[in-house]
Amino acid sequence: MAAIQLLICLLFCSTPALLVNSLTDAGDVAALQSLKGSWENSPPNWESNDPCGNQWDGVGCSDSRVTSLGFSSMNLKGTLSGAIGGLSELRSLDLSFNPDLTGPLTARIGDLKKLNILILAGCSFTGSVPDEIGNLAQLTLLALNANNFSGNIPPSLGKLTQLDWLDLSDNQIRGSLPVSTDSQPGLDLLLKAEHFHFNKNQLSGNISEQLFNSSMVLKHILLDGNQINGNIPESITLLPNLQVLRLDRNKLSGPVPAKLNSLTKLGELYLANNALNGAVPDLTGMTALNYVDLSNNNFDPSEPPNWFSTVDSLTTLVMENGNLQGSIPAKLFSFPELQQVKLKGNLLNGSLDLGNIISQQLQLIDLQDNQISSVNLDPSGYSNPLILVGNPVCSNLSTKSFCQLQQPMKTTPYSTSLAKNCKPCPPNRRISPASCDCVFPYDGNLIFKAPSFRDVTNASLFNALERSLWLKLGLGPGSVSLDSPHFDKDDYLDVRLAIYPYSGKKYFSRVDTAGFGLHLSKQTFKPPKEFGPYLFYPFPYGFEGTGGTKLGIGVIVGITVGTFILLLALAGVAIYAIRQKKRAEQAIELSKPFASWAPSGKDSGGAPILKGARWFSFDELKKCTNNFSDTNEIGSGGYGKVYRGILTGQEIAIKRAQQGSMQGAHEFKTEIELLSRVHHNNLVGLVGFCFEQGEQMLVYEFMPNGTLRESLSATQPIEKGKYIVREVRMVMNKTDEHHYGLSEIMDPSIKNVGHLIGFASFLELAMRCVKETAAERPTMGDCVREIETILQNDGVGTDSAASSATDFGTSKGVPRHPYNESLPRKEIIDSESFEYSGSISATIEPK
Ligand SMILES: *[C@@H]1O[C@H](CO)[C@@H](O)[C@H](O)[C@H]1NC(C)=O
Ligand SMILES: *[C@@H]1O[C@H](CO)[C@@H](O)[C@H](O)[C@H]1NC(C)=O
Ligand SMILES: *[C@@H]1O[C@H](CO)[C@@H](O)[C@H](O)[C@H]1NC(C)=O
Ligand SMILES: *[C@@H]1O[C@H](CO)[C@@H](O)[C@H](O)[C@H]1NC(C)=O
Ligand SMILES: *[C@@H]1O[C@H](CO)[C@@H](O)[C@H](O)[C@H]1NC(C)=O
Ligand SMILES: *[C@@H]1O[C@H](CO)[C@@H](O)[C@H](O)[C@H]1NC(C)=O
Repeated sequence: MAAIQLLICLLFCSTPALLVNSLTDAGDVAALQSLKGSWENSPPNWESNDPCGNQWDGVGCSDSRVTSLGFSSMNLKGTLSGAIGGLSELRSLDLSFNPDLTGPLTARIGDLKKLNILILAGCSFTGSVPDEIGNLAQLTLLALNANNFSGNIPPSLGKLTQLDWLDLSDNQIRGSLPVSTDSQPGLDLLLKAEHFHFNKNQLSGNISEQLFNSSMVLKHILLDGNQINGNIPESITLLPNLQVLRLDRNKLSGPVPAKLNSLTKLGELYLANNALNGAVPDLTGMTALNYVDLSNNNFDPSEPPNWFSTVDSLTTLVMENGNLQGSIPAKLFSFPELQQVKLKGNLLNGSLDLGNIISQQLQLIDLQDNQISSVNLDPSGYSNPLILVGNPVCSNLSTKSFCQLQQPMKTTPYSTSLAKNCKPCPPNRRISPASCDCVFPYDGNLIFKAPSFRDVTNASLFNALERSLWLKLGLGPGSVSLDSPHFDKDDYLDVRLAIYPYSGKKYFSRVDTAGFGLHLSKQTFKPPKEFGPYLFYPFPYGFEGTGGTKLGIGVIVGITVGTFILLLALAGVAIYAIRQKKRAEQAIELSKPFASWAPSGKDSGGAPILKGARWFSFDELKKCTNNFSDTNEIGSGGYGKVYRGILTGQEIAIKRAQQGSMQGAHEFKTEIELLSRVHHNNLVGLVGFCFEQGEQMLVYEFMPNGTLRESLSATQPIEKGKYIVREVRMVMNKTDEHHYGLSEIMDPSIKNVGHLIGFASFLELAMRCVKETAAERPTMGDCVREIETILQNDGVGTDSAASSATDFGTSKGVPRHPYNESLPRKEIIDSESFEYSGSISATIEPK
């Protein structure tokens, strides 16, 4: 889809952007220059003074103003200067995963009044979270996780009433969770928030009853790994949408609220490692519950509660050191999704009976250190690890396998299978699973904070995760691999993820990795629902040409040998150069028309700057087309004729402009510069040009089967195009939010997908691209940026002029949120329809 849009633009957009001095607002240029000045490792193409016009990597613009900065995973080093506050039109700021970005977060961040996305995850910011963040009234996503923030949570965050996602996890933040008072705001005012992620900090104090109420839409509350004390507030049971509750590893005390089981959407409940007391919580009726961990509290001694035999959605039941006595109901082992039962260190006694029906997914029963005296085990029913070490039954039967601590698992953890019989790769590279190529993957740890399962061997689950990843990241099958899934000390599921460059590329560009980083930090990537909330911590990426990796001895030897060969080659080149001198002089001569045309100014005169395309003399082309003979003619139109020719063995096509359809030197130069920088499968590559003796010719690769004719013969498509544009304008109807009135004339394969996200924005853009006069059409650069903006911002409201949040969202009135699992399946598929591929910007190479 995006490729088609690009094609439309290539055909119709005007191109003056490349020559105008600076498209970018002067204030924004100054701010960006200042940011750049405080950073090392900034991308090589941040050179010109025109970040918008020259498409600095990661900079997104709209109407000459900088609206988004996507600098994820760029290895930036330094501090964030206060100059950031000058980018007053900024909507989205993503600096995630630049671990060498340090120092305090500037208070001027609060000047970015239009910001709706702020992601600083995975950097090393220190000091307090500035109060001024509370001024960012439009913010929907705030991710400050995995930094070194300290100090308290500023109560001013309570002013962020649009906030959906609040992630402060994995810092050193202290103090309590602020609630509103007469004199200050508090987190209880965040009525649109679905995500409170405060895990792994040093929060203390009590959780106020006032923090939660039934007006809130919270789905995930992660408070694990803090030092919170006091009771679990009763009000938490009022949250109608709650799916994940992690309160483990705190100092909570008192009884668990009696009405906890009114949380009927709760899937994951972690209360382990606190000082909770009173009765074992009653989870009866919690029909969505998958994962329960109540270990290491001070609950009253009791028989296994009733819900051990009724909550049959359980995958995992953990209650170690839980004062349970009596016998385990056999019913528990029949729950169809049950994977693990861990009841170590209780007082369970009597005979262990697993019953006749045992879950096919059951992998582990750990009953160490109980009082079980006998086992009633049908060997055909269950053959995975059963651990009874430390029970009376093992004092007399210590040779039985269930009396061994280490028992072999039947299956090994999941790992993406690689292509077979590939040769091993040199250091730092890895074999791409899709091919045997040795490439430089973008990789890191994917961490799932509350998965609903415990089984790390289930290939269908991890295959689904792989698929969801490559689909969302706009890649193909075999472009991602997963391995080493395991549960870490925080009971998070860690998985190693690697994303591989594809179609012959060895490296990703900064634009690619920033795109991946954004999807994974902004949470537009949604894993299958079993995986729950996640974080991605990428390893620093060694971009091509940065020499980011240490040199091994082999490399040093290689360089030495290479240098020697280079010297030899240079000698050869010198000889060749002399021979070519004559030709070079000719080339200078050829560039004269451009120079003589150019009035003044740094960019408009001189020879065109070309990528891989070259000058041809008139005589050269005349010769290879048999003096432009009729037999070589393969097409014609209002602009002139197209000839076929053979040049040093390569078949070429020459488009020769006729008198009257010639462009000015300026325009001609712009066109060849642009064409020489565009590489696309659906476009014919420019080989070179001729501009002498009053001729303007473009030399292309030859494409058989008439493709060339269609690509080059302009008259026909333009007539056809005008007709289509007229048709579309007539039937367009903005009140039709699904198809904009185009339902009748749309390609069914697109239409049948359902509601197309971003469709209206794409259509508006395409229609502007086909306006009659050049002045009304956006520039090429504007198009590319706008397409990227539409793609990157799908999901959250943005700058893109006329488009409202619903254009990007799903259906009207339903905001798109991370983890909106309740989305109908169709819409999830739709969100893939206009996917950011990363290849759009990669298509046009920097000069
Ligand atoms: C940031 O915190 C991490 C661990 O939380 C620590 O290893 C690192 O040294 C800290 N860095 C700074 C700059 O304080
Ligand atoms: C929930 O709390 C907010 C803020 O304190 C308040 O505006 C809202 O009315 C409360 N809702 C209920 C149902 O109490
Ligand atoms: C906080 O919890 C503790 C119990 O850990 C209790 O003694 C204290 O009264 C509570 N403080 C407040 C302000 O509720
Ligand atoms: C198991 O323990 C309970 C409570 O301690 C006791 O009442 C019961 O008799 C025990 N059962 C067996 C079979 O030992
Ligand atoms: C793997 O997981 C899926 C989805 O949870 C489940 O349906 C399937 O039975 C599992 N397969 C095995 C072998 O446990
Ligand atoms: C273990 O064996 C001893 C005697 O060797 C016996 O007295 C005891 O009852 C046996 N215990 C169990 C649990 O079978």
